[in-house]
Amino acid sequence: MKLENSTLLIVGLGLIGGSVARAARAAGLCRRILACGRDRAPLQQALEDGVIDEFSTDLPALARQADLILVAVPTLTVAAVLAEMAAELRPGAVITDAASVKGRVVEDALHSLPDGARRFVPGHPIAGSEQSGYPASRVDLFVGRKVILTPGDDTDPDAVQLVTRLWHAIGADVHGMSVARHDAVLAATSHLPHLLAYSLVNALMRVDESGEHRQGHEQRQQILDYAAGGFAGFSRIASSDPHMWRDIFLSNGPATIEVLDQFMDELQQMRSLLEQGDGVAMESAFRRAKLTRDRFMDRFSAATSATRLPSMNSGSRVDFLAEAGGPLTGEIRVPGDKSISHRAIMLAAIAEGVTEISGFLEGEDALHTLQALRDLGVAICGPECGRVRVYGVGMHGLQAPRGPLYLGNSGTAMRLLAGLLSAQEFAVELCGDESLSRRPMDRVAQPLRAMGADISTAADGRPPLSIRGGHLQGITHEMEVPSAQVKSALLLAGLYAEGETRVHADLPSRDHTERMLEAFAVRVGRSEDGSDVRLAGGQKLQATRIDVPADISSAAFFLVAASIVPGSNLLLRHVGINPTRTGIITLLREMGADLEILNTRRVGGEPVADIRVRHAVLRGIEVPAALVPLAIDEFPVFFVAAACAEGETVLRNAAELRVKESDRIGVMAEGLQALGVDAESLADGMRIRGGSIGGGEIDSAGDHRVAMAFAVAALRASGPLRIRDCANVATSFPGFLELANAAGLRLRAEQEQIA
Ligand code: S3P
Repeated sequence: MKLENSTLLIVGLGLIGGSVARAARAAGLCRRILACGRDRAPLQQALEDGVIDEFSTDLPALARQADLILVAVPTLTVAAVLAEMAAELRPGAVITDAASVKGRVVEDALHSLPDGARRFVPGHPIAGSEQSGYPASRVDLFVGRKVILTPGDDTDPDAVQLVTRLWHAIGADVHGMSVARHDAVLAATSHLPHLLAYSLVNALMRVDESGEHRQGHEQRQQILDYAAGGFAGFSRIASSDPHMWRDIFLSNGPATIEVLDQFMDELQQMRSLLEQGDGVAMESAFRRAKLTRDRFMDRFSAATSATRLPSMNSGSRVDFLAEAGGPLTGEIRVPGDKSISHRAIMLAAIAEGVTEISGFLEGEDALHTLQALRDLGVAICGPECGRVRVYGVGMHGLQAPRGPLYLGNSGTAMRLLAGLLSAQEFAVELCGDESLSRRPMDRVAQPLRAMGADISTAADGRPPLSIRGGHLQGITHEMEVPSAQVKSALLLAGLYAEGETRVHADLPSRDHTERMLEAFAVRVGRSEDGSDVRLAGGQKLQATRIDVPADISSAAFFLVAASIVPGSNLLLRHVGINPTRTGIITLLREMGADLEILNTRRVGGEPVADIRVRHAVLRGIEVPAALVPLAIDEFPVFFVAAACAEGETVLRNAAELRVKESDRIGVMAEGLQALGVDAESLADGMRIRGGSIGGGEIDSAGDHRVAMAFAVAALRASGPLRIRDCANVATSFPGFLELANAAGLRLRAEQEQIA
């Protein structure tokens, strides 16, 4: 069903319902907008405002006409509304709601809509305020605000897409999650704060259960007279609608009690600190809270501002403090493959049907891609424990985003999306953080222009990219440097192009895009060694299931770590061993590393294995040119292996490393030299003579892989290491510190606030 031709019924024309009606009307979204409510006055007002076309207090009569129904009434009233409408619904009608608790509402829907529960898409716009009622409604209430949908496995995907389109079209940022996760998260972020605000006001005013004041008038008056911003700020939400909040607490009692208990523990601790007069502990607790809150506010205001450029790491800097450690023992599984996670979201988004992804990397880079596709109007549930469900919109279903797409630190996201968006019929801007803004984009912009896309960049071909997509023509492109990102961008554009798109390089590069396109039922032609790839435009993608293996680029830190520490014996589970990614295994074996590949199997289109790594004495090598693209991301930690090896290691033909997240040749050479290693940077590589490693301070230049490589180097260092600027480790390896410590490293983070 098309939103444009639909009749929208809003049940309950308060702050939320009224604002949806205003925004839908302003955007010219639905053919007709009907409203139903208990009181005639606001309905009449909305009719006069031109916000709705018709109203009634007779719900069944309106329900018979509606294609899409938004139930925007208090949580415990939803059941009665659904029951009243159930027998009157049109076949195919889609229902959604706006209640703040989802578990209760979903139960009610199953009960009240025996035939229609599949077309009930539970929703929750996080956009309320302490004001309520139609007069408080605003046309822009949802702009930049999150709306959470909690569809189940059985919910009709078309219904999910229709509801997503409605919210997206009125400016909201639509997220999906499970009912249980929603209710737990909201208990902590919304329900508990409301409970506290109500309680604080009552406690200060000493209002007892009967509403009687237990405190003298004078004392109360003083509190109010002198209560400035603090009281006003903290108690703002105590002005919220008591009836609505009663319903919320009645519906989400257990989850709220759980967070309330945690809060009472915290308060109890605070009470002891006060009793003990422990200023140091108090200040440190306040500092932690301030840092967290400041960071939250940065992101919150960025997310709701027109330009929407959140900076994940602003306001604080993280250093790693590392000491010699090991041996590395036990079994670990590193997070999901970054390259595969990006591609899974993009291909699933333009496929037909629902794709289930498991093992998804919940790191900032892949999350930026996920958010970008949400901004392009795709309904995506998760990630929850690596599971993501993507409701594909088909080849032509992406919608214009509200503002620039912010891609953080991720070159892969920017280059691949440049390809995909070159073929869309809307304009879009792609931007990123400081490091991404320095990276070359001409390598994708030029061939995409040759295909017919209109792309402009900042000076020297750097981001931001402005893309006006359109009709594309297939081309043959010869890559000067083998790059999977360039190849993938052109293949994604090629899906939409007229004729054939062909990409060639002298050497093969990672082939996840080709494999995954095949898994989505696209025919891809490839030369035997993979250096030549082609596809015909006009093909469709069919949704599938994707299991993302653990990232060999993240595993590489542990392959080297266990190799260089005597006594190590570590098992890495479920690692992707795609032959276009295993350059590091070949190189380390060449150096004498003891790596055992066990239990090789195929998962989806990708080979996976467990890898056992034991300590071994390493020897220096010369890196063969053909292995450079197959180990391109692993050189920072490979240099650490070289620093621990006997003799000399030489890398050439790798000038590409100078334009990664940092200049990885320059930054690594400088860091190694600072630790007393005999390392010489070459224009296109590095020469390292193995020996001892000293302690000291080095700068990672905000590069995640440099930071983790030096954490590994610390294992063999004669003194402690301070590694500066490590927050970006979260881009590719969430949970690195915990996992590294569990495996035998001795590593901690120190967070520092910066102006
Ligand atoms: C990637 C390709 C490589 C790699 C990057 C991820 C990908 O870049 O360095 O981290 O997912 O396609 P290039 O294609 O530019 O070599």
